[in-house]
Amino acid sequence: MSDLLANLDKLHTTDLGAARIRRNLNLQADDVVLWCREAVRLHDVIFGIGKNWYVYRGDIVITINAKSYTIITAHPINAKVRVMRPSDYVCLHEFLYQAIFVPIGAEPPPRSVTGDPQIFIYIKDFGAQTGDLGVVAEENESGQIVGAAWTRIISAYGHVDDETPELAISLLPAFRGCGIGTKLMKKLFDVLRDNGYSRTSLSVQKDNPAVRFYERLGYQITEEKLDRVGNEDFIMIKELNVTV
Ligand SMILES: CC(C)(COP(=O)(O)OP(=O)(O)OC[C@H]1O[C@@H](n2cnc3c(N)ncnc32)[C@H](O)[C@@H]1OP(=O)(O)O)[C@@H](O)C(=O)NCCC(=O)NCCS
Repeated sequence: MSDLLANLDKLHTTDLGAARIRRNLNLQADDVVLWCREAVRLHDVIFGIGKNWYVYRGDIVITINAKSYTIITAHPINAKVRVMRPSDYVCLHEFLYQAIFVPIGAEPPPRSVTGDPQIFIYIKDFGAQTGDLGVVAEENESGQIVGAAWTRIISAYGHVDDETPELAISLLPAFRGCGIGTKLMKKLFDVLRDNGYSRTSLSVQKDNPAVRFYERLGYQITEEKLDRVGNEDFIMIKELNVTV
């Protein structure tokens, strides 16, 4: 990544590349290379995978050949959503950490927080129990997993009964607000219905903007309570026979 940032002046593209980027992004800028250079400089996150750099900034991704510094293309960020495979379970640690609500201006908790038994229960031996179901989002350009949503029937914050799987969801920060979370949720609802479940629950801090996201997806607040560290939480339930 530092290699790319140290060589921004080497970025270039072809006429065809510039036309493609203008078309894909509906871009009015006269100088596409200059525009991309600024986006790379201000990047949210950069992945180096295989022969390319993938630069994410706002709601776009720019693909750059790592050897020649040719800007190959740029697209709005999008992802395909699929059922979680056992080989994906390793990424649950990261998504469990990313699911922890950090209010604006607050310090993120240390990574070790996921080792707390009350939190680790969301992923411990995932796949071994009935109700362990999940989906992941693979970003289209890089193929990286950028989000996950999963359920378990566990005695955790959002437990309502032994027939109702409790949901957890998160995206890597650079990929939030692009519609990927909505796609993950809709796919997970299908998976839950296919597995015979009629509802799913969750626990969310009252201040988390995700409350609106859940309401839009058909969740209803059924209870308000203080959690063990004094946060005010909503328990929310989604009836799966109600489609949105
Ligand atoms: C909540 C989350 C999964 C939603 O996925 P997403 O792809 O960002 O959501 P979409 O683009 O499909 O929908 C946008 C909605 O998501 C919510 N949202 C967007 N960014 C968010 C963020 N940084 N944190 C929490 N919620 C967010 C908002 O409700 C937003 O709607 P609004 O713009 O009307 O307020 C994702 O933002 C996230 O990972 N947030 C941090 C982790 C988290 O809070 N998980 C839930 C714990 S209970």
